[in-house]
Amino acid sequence: MKKLLILFCIVFVFLNCKNNSEKNVNLKTNTVGLITEKAMVVSARVEASRIGSAILQKGGNAFDAMMATEMALAVCYPSAGNLGGGGFMVYRMSNGDVGALDYREKAPLAASKNMYLDSLENVIPLKSILGELAVGVPGTVAGVFEAQQKFGKLSVSEILQPVIELAKNGYVVTKKQANRFNDYDSIFRAVNGKEVLYSKNKKAGDTIKNIQLAKTLQRIVLNGKDEFYKGETAKILVDYLSERGGIMTLEDLAKYEAIWREPISFKYKNINIISMSPPSSGGICLAQIMKMIEPYNLKEFGHNSIKSIQLLSEAERRAYADRNYFLGDPDFVQIPTDTLMSDTYLFNRMRNFSFEKATPSSEVFHGNIEFVESEETTHYSIVDQFGNAVSVTTTLNNTFGSQLFCSELGFFLNNEMDDFSSKPGVPNMFGLTGAEANSIAPEKRMLSSMTPTIVEKDGKLLMTLGTPGGSTIITSVLQTILNVEEFDMTMQEAVSAPRFHHQWLPDYIRMEPNKFSKKLIRQLEAKGYTINEKRSPVIGIVDGILVTDDGKLEGGADWRGDDTAIGF
Ligand code: GLY
Repeated sequence: MKKLLILFCIVFVFLNCKNNSEKNVNLKTNTVGLITEKAMVVSARVEASRIGSAILQKGGNAFDAMMATEMALAVCYPSAGNLGGGGFMVYRMSNGDVGALDYREKAPLAASKNMYLDSLENVIPLKSILGELAVGVPGTVAGVFEAQQKFGKLSVSEILQPVIELAKNGYVVTKKQANRFNDYDSIFRAVNGKEVLYSKNKKAGDTIKNIQLAKTLQRIVLNGKDEFYKGETAKILVDYLSERGGIMTLEDLAKYEAIWREPISFKYKNINIISMSPPSSGGICLAQIMKMIEPYNLKEFGHNSIKSIQLLSEAERRAYADRNYFLGDPDFVQIPTDTLMSDTYLFNRMRNFSFEKATPSSEVFHGNIEFVESEETTHYSIVDQFGNAVSVTTTLNNTFGSQLFCSELGFFLNNEMDDFSSKPGVPNMFGLTGAEANSIAPEKRMLSSMTPTIVEKDGKLLMTLGTPGGSTIITSVLQTILNVEEFDMTMQEAVSAPRFHHQWLPDYIRMEPNKFSKKLIRQLEAKGYTINEKRSPVIGIVDGILVTDDGKLEGGADWRGDDTAIGF
């Protein structure tokens, strides 16, 4: 384990530095994204957007396209697209009905509060991050079936056929992807004890076929969701994990259900925001920040001006302090949602804010808790030709999750257990901590920051958006909405604009490197802010769709990834 720890740390540090040197690569200068008349899919990979869009063109709706896009991402974007992970979806039907689906992973029945602690109650490094004990019960297959069966129009075989073809015929590796496969290869080999499909020095332009995943998907077409949770796939998965000392059982899989949740809905000036409810912190945290900044005239302050950055950072600091303390799985802990989102409470939270001087995080209520989440997740947005919209964020947690690749099934397994607090109040290796509300319990869902979001204006759809980025997800979604609504940007400009982030602790403003002027940084420092341009080479990879004034769709596909909008 010690060797693995050292290897993991080296790769982790190396990747951060390496990414830093890739700044500005692929920076898109387009001010307007793809415009289409009727429908669009924006996702992390051109193949996934293409397959999702083709399903719409065939007469499928947003929920059919969701199943296709999500499964296609599992084939061609295996660092975050998945069958072995989980996610959240927020939707808005053309008639204005809204809802949310929780297909987050959950802790296995044999999980326990102290499972990552040693006899002295210290957190054992990497136990919740790498390998079989890091794996939560996957929710993705249940999620896509639940959504498609409730609202979809096409048959599962029609939807999954192009995905199976993609897995069989292969997809072309991009430069960013080749770098990622090669960077992680030493960890793949160490954790799996052998090379995996993505080993062998991949190069940009190589084609990767995943025949085992094609077979898994083929069985899912034949036997439906039960194939994954009760069938041959379930047995292969449980045998695979048990042989390695994992604790997930057939009972865990058989009991897994995706859950329909009431989304978090709130008003900001004259727009209405619909976002994800717990066990994601995204919706509540976004609502808190937006309501705290609402009384101020951001437009007058200007985009990324010193006053805007101060205001957003101070609201973010306060919201994240609450997030850490109060939020967890609503089926296990009571969350004071109404109070957390009430005008009086939030007005009082901002009472000690002044433009003269930063409020130190040590003076902000719920102290001394630091958390940083993994940055590897993926988001896609879909609007169909019937006017329905979905916003979906899905993840394995870290890049390639637990790094465990089940070769027989053709997919990686998540390490979502690390999103729990291994020991409340004590940061783990990534600095990820929380309070009692997010402690481990059998069948509990771990707290998330994923923030799939839909925005309405004048009772009509305005935008669907979201992003990966761990704890920076919420603030990236926030800034993208404000860029459109307050600063009159197009969807593409809003997505491309430089981003910053404050999360209470560590007490600094993270900024994308070299995107903010030295003068502005010096002015902020003079007011008591610490600026960190090293922590995140990029903040978020936002994919969104905007309904323009003339009723067309504009896609915003983030230059920070290989993201692509496709539609008609
Ligand atoms: N695994 C990252 C999140 O759910 O926020």
